[in-house]
Amino acid sequence: MTRIRRLELADPATVRILLPVYQSVVAEELPDDPEPTASELAHVLTPRAKRESAVFAAFHGDTAVGFAAVAHSRLINPPLAVGYLLVSPSHRRWGTGSELLRRTLNESAATGQDHVVFEAPDTSTVEAFAKATSGRRVFTDYRSLLELRPAGTEAPSPAGSSRAPYRTVRWTDRCPDQLLDSYATARAHILDAPSGDLSVPMHRPDAEEVRTDERILRQIALRQYVVAAVTPEEQVAGYVQLFAWDTFQGVQEHTVVVPDHRGRGLALKLRREATDWIRAHEPHLTRLQVMNDSANTWIHAVNDRLGWVRDRSWSGWEYSTS
Ligand SMILES: CC(C)(COP(=O)(O)OP(=O)(O)OC[C@H]1O[C@@H](n2cnc3c(N)ncnc32)[C@H](O)[C@@H]1OP(=O)(O)O)[C@@H](O)C(=O)NCCC(=O)NCCS
Repeated sequence: MTRIRRLELADPATVRILLPVYQSVVAEELPDDPEPTASELAHVLTPRAKRESAVFAAFHGDTAVGFAAVAHSRLINPPLAVGYLLVSPSHRRWGTGSELLRRTLNESAATGQDHVVFEAPDTSTVEAFAKATSGRRVFTDYRSLLELRPAGTEAPSPAGSSRAPYRTVRWTDRCPDQLLDSYATARAHILDAPSGDLSVPMHRPDAEEVRTDERILRQIALRQYVVAAVTPEEQVAGYVQLFAWDTFQGVQEHTVVVPDHRGRGLALKLRREATDWIRAHEPHLTRLQVMNDSANTWIHAVNDRLGWVRDRSWSGWEYSTS
């Protein structure tokens, strides 16, 4: 019999209990990906600033065989929760996914969300499950990969070709104080990217939110690399953010150029510099992944120019909680 239990993220046992489930699902669905580590799972489960999360695990006896993790924000987008739902390949078609889904939708309704969106790689299994459970596809992302050669074994990236007097500033742990406000403002422009049928309200992060996110990244041992383009007036005109942890695959997270500064080659310049930097500092990395909405032609053009190769697609499946 399947038992669903809510787990507390603050309990260090949670990641330990769920890691074998996550590893078995990644091995099945993404066989060329590295085996996830505790740090990667903590990244998946831990909500960022101003967000709350809930984690539900399905147990057969004492063994966890599936989990659902969702996060929502009362401050930013109260009606929507987003997350993941997964069941170990050895325990599928036993109704576990449906039970986890039911429990998560009930709990999300109780905390005020109208809809929950689960993200998953596009597979016939996920599509069949979504069809059986009335999930609606609301966006599709493409994942692209960049194979990295060891630092120093290829020609250096061309020096910045952007046609304006930007200097670049790099940081890992903390954004420099003098750039904090304009970096927070620049971060709002990640929402300029298309997001399918999802309605995402405008949100302007403040300096405190940036600092809270930086603290969270340190807590979950996710190493951040940010390269920002800065104007002579000391304003952030764009930035690129990457993450690394202890597996061979790093993550290209945000690529943002503030509207007034677009069309000057900044995205290419920042992405090149950031890639060279992370490769030099994280020699165990052999590739990077990035997820971008399928309709984001601008970023796909940037990825193509930089040698990224499209790998597979992912979709967001929306469920109503009522
Ligand atoms: C989608 C998923 C959660 C389903 O879990 P599950 O416990 O097998 O789901 P259920 O047993 O509740 O299935 C409910 C219904 O969905 C449909 N369904 C599910 N899997 C199916 C499959 N492989 N083929 C056809 N129909 C399927 C069926 O109608 C099923 O009912 P039935 O078994 O009575 O015919 C599971 O396959 C999974 O974890 N997939 C990977 C998800 C993922 O990749 N997440 C991100 C990882 S990074």
